[in-house]
Amino acid sequence: MYTTVVIPGKNWLLSLAELAAFFEVKKCKFQIESFSKEFFIVQFEKKIKPSLIDDLGGVIKIGEINTSFQTDVLKRAILDKDKTSKNEIGNIISDTTRIVDDLISSEKKTFFGVSIYCSEKRLRKIAKAIQRFFGSLIKKKLSEQGKKSRFMGFSKDRRLPQLSHVEVLKKRLIESNGEFIISIDGHQTWLSTTKSVHNPFEFQKRDIEKPIQRKIFAMPPRLARILVNLSLCDQKSILLDPFCGVGSILQEGLLNRSKVIGVDINPWCIKASERNLEWLSNNYQIDKPDFRVIQGDIQELSKKIGYEEIDCVATEPDLGPALRQVPTDPYAQKIINKLDRLYSLFLQESYKVLKKNCRCVFVTPYLKTRSGKAITMNIDEKAKKLGFTRVFPLNKEIFGKTIIKKEEMWKIASLTDVNKRHKTGREIHILQK
Ligand SMILES: C[S@@+](CC[C@H](N)C(=O)[O-])C[C@H]1O[C@@H](n2cnc3c(N)ncnc32)[C@H](O)[C@@H]1O
Repeated sequence: MYTTVVIPGKNWLLSLAELAAFFEVKKCKFQIESFSKEFFIVQFEKKIKPSLIDDLGGVIKIGEINTSFQTDVLKRAILDKDKTSKNEIGNIISDTTRIVDDLISSEKKTFFGVSIYCSEKRLRKIAKAIQRFFGSLIKKKLSEQGKKSRFMGFSKDRRLPQLSHVEVLKKRLIESNGEFIISIDGHQTWLSTTKSVHNPFEFQKRDIEKPIQRKIFAMPPRLARILVNLSLCDQKSILLDPFCGVGSILQEGLLNRSKVIGVDINPWCIKASERNLEWLSNNYQIDKPDFRVIQGDIQELSKKIGYEEIDCVATEPDLGPALRQVPTDPYAQKIINKLDRLYSLFLQESYKVLKKNCRCVFVTPYLKTRSGKAITMNIDEKAKKLGFTRVFPLNKEIFGKTIIKKEEMWKIASLTDVNKRHKTGREIHILQK
């Protein structure tokens, strides 16, 4: 067993669903031992490469667990200022971990950082004190070995004592084993060393350096990667995006070394996707990139692509007009009704071109209205009639036996991605043929 801590992105449910799909493709069994919006403790059956964080859109950090102990000990140490408990934690660090020995320093003073991820309410309030406690403890252990050290502080206005992934990258803390993640839930506290972090610059490059961009409709590369992963796409797959736009999803599929096919009604989009995919192939040294982009209307999809030729569909169809204001209920409903035919055709045609047992991952609009309601599209009946079954992305197999409240997770049918800046949110569905 190999135990890790995974720090999810802001949309933690989407991150968890992506993780489950990603390791299903890799045929690597795992169990979630603890989860919250702050962190997941994941037990893998074999060691995983930390660098695979680059293939995940929704994971911010991966750390290797060094040790764990009961949160009650931490509570006694911090809340009750109990000396015995403080010493107990110190001894756990020295006796059961190599964190102090593994700290690598090229300078006179060893530099390290401590980040606290806490799902326990009472302790969360005093996370800064916990960070100082662990920082001082590690400093003391280093000093006992004759090493001078300095630990990274935070500005006072920082809400939580957590280093950002950018800080970890800039301070080269992966190379020096220099960031410690303390993950705390109501029962257990885990101590880990960060082994990889999300590299925002790479994703940004694919977003803003690609030759042809379209600001309003294009999907951010991180979300595009999540959709690709949710579709169970692997290197042998043929991935289709029937509403490819400027090719954001196709790009992520190609980076996954899959064969990708894009379709769009707009001839400008076809040229744009082609140029972007060529750019990606050159910039990411993709040997023999396999992509095809075809102009066409969704209603003719199965005429352009053979029946049962496709292994995965990942797409974002039309989400309606760009909204300047929060819509009223009737206006939001009108938008949804207008899109109904397009989505019916999309599901019908996708069913034809998809192979059996394969997935169709797609977005429908999620419209928050002035009354506070969310108007969404009901696709269940259409999908069922065609023969699709809904995939519940957080199924029970991924949760360890000790977790309570997991039933709530099994029942989650779709995932939403709602951003305060945008009036139109996304609802993400996974269907299987
Ligand atoms: C939301 S955008 C997709 C954005 C894309 N994911 C990207 O990152 O650029 C929807 C796309 O669907 C295309 N589209 C709209 N109606 C279509 C139809 N009937 N058949 C095929 N494509 C269509 C539009 O041209 C548009 O590029």
